[in-house]
Amino acid sequence: MKLNKLTLNNFKNFEHFEAEFHPQVNAFTGNNGVGKTNLLDAIYTLAMGKSYFGLTNRQLIRHGQNFFSIKGRFNRDNDSFDILLKYREGEKKSLSVNGKEYPRLSDYIGLVPVVMISPYDRDLISESGETRRRFTDRLIAQYDKDYLNNLIRYTRSLRQRNSLLKYFAANGYFDPDRLDAFDRPLARYAEAIHAKRQQFVQSLAPILSEKYARIAGSGEQPGITYRSALNQTAAYELLQKNLERDRLLQYTSDGIHRDDLIFTLNGHPIKKFGSQGQQKSFLIALRLAEADMLFSRKNDAPILLFDDIFDKLDPGRVRQILDYVKHRRFGQVFITDTHPERVSLLLDALDRQARIFEL
Ligand SMILES: Nc1ncnc2c1ncn2[C@@H]1O[C@H](COP(=O)(O)OP(=O)(O)O)[C@@H](O)[C@H]1O
Ligand SMILES: [Mg+2]
Repeated sequence: MKLNKLTLNNFKNFEHFEAEFHPQVNAFTGNNGVGKTNLLDAIYTLAMGKSYFGLTNRQLIRHGQNFFSIKGRFNRDNDSFDILLKYREGEKKSLSVNGKEYPRLSDYIGLVPVVMISPYDRDLISESGETRRRFTDRLIAQYDKDYLNNLIRYTRSLRQRNSLLKYFAANGYFDPDRLDAFDRPLARYAEAIHAKRQQFVQSLAPILSEKYARIAGSGEQPGITYRSALNQTAAYELLQKNLERDRLLQYTSDGIHRDDLIFTLNGHPIKKFGSQGQQKSFLIALRLAEADMLFSRKNDAPILLFDDIFDKLDPGRVRQILDYVKHRRFGQVFITDTHPERVSLLLDALDRQARIFEL
């Protein structure tokens, strides 16, 4: 997949931005704060329908304005298409491909496979399970449409079940049949999601090992454990088992909305025991594994977005990323750096052509 052209209006700090890209490597250079990362996020947002940074649509609008738009012309196997994402305050976000509206995000996600490697990836280790669920969900959703649909249904049913629990508590009564009307479908969606997450972790783990060994040698063994209450208990049973507690708390205390991934090195959680260097290696391996997985499932090389990797990583780890890019028939790379001369080094290392944009 290649992005040929990008046009922004009122996206973050850009009032207007337009550029035509090189099919191999593109670099955004310039001082801190000029908007290099924002450009990568614009590409990510167009591909995924959501900001990499978890920002709301409103937060993507340039301050003081009331709308933004991102438009991209993409190319895949000599087939070219336009994607337009626009959002106006108070309205629904609109996504269209060649002028045809895509009302469901699940139909749209996966059209443009993309992987970002960013210093903010460290949140995947340090922050709560929500960040790791988001990682999992966004990756699976790109190759499995049913997954995202089930997740949307699950989230909706869960919200309704929680409202009902509050309603019961507020009105001092309880109707098991009414609750059951939510529990049955909720459990069905949960089982489907759980099965897909299990498969996902099983497929990702060996690729992660291979990537990690290349970066850090084979002395350390990385692992991913999928933690879920559904590993032990079927979803419907779990709801029954927790009923008293849920009524008391007035929300659904456990289920796939509490799932987590535990990242390990030699069996120990990397969050607690991993050194800074091991954590960085792990995260790069995880992202490269993500790119591999997308590549093979979509049969399309993802667009790679590298935010400040020279600044934040040592030369050895950077070389591993570059080797990956070199040996994989990658789609296209976008890279940011404060120093244009470092970008030239990159191009020499890659033996690639590029366009450099000085912002
Ligand atoms: N919604 C917004 N409206 C206007 N400016 C924004 C918005 N969001 C972020 N910015 C600005 O974008 C700039 C940061 O851009 P960023 O892409 O992180 O820079 P760089 O990566 O080049 O260091 C900051 O000056 C920030 O204030
Ligand atoms: Mg930046």
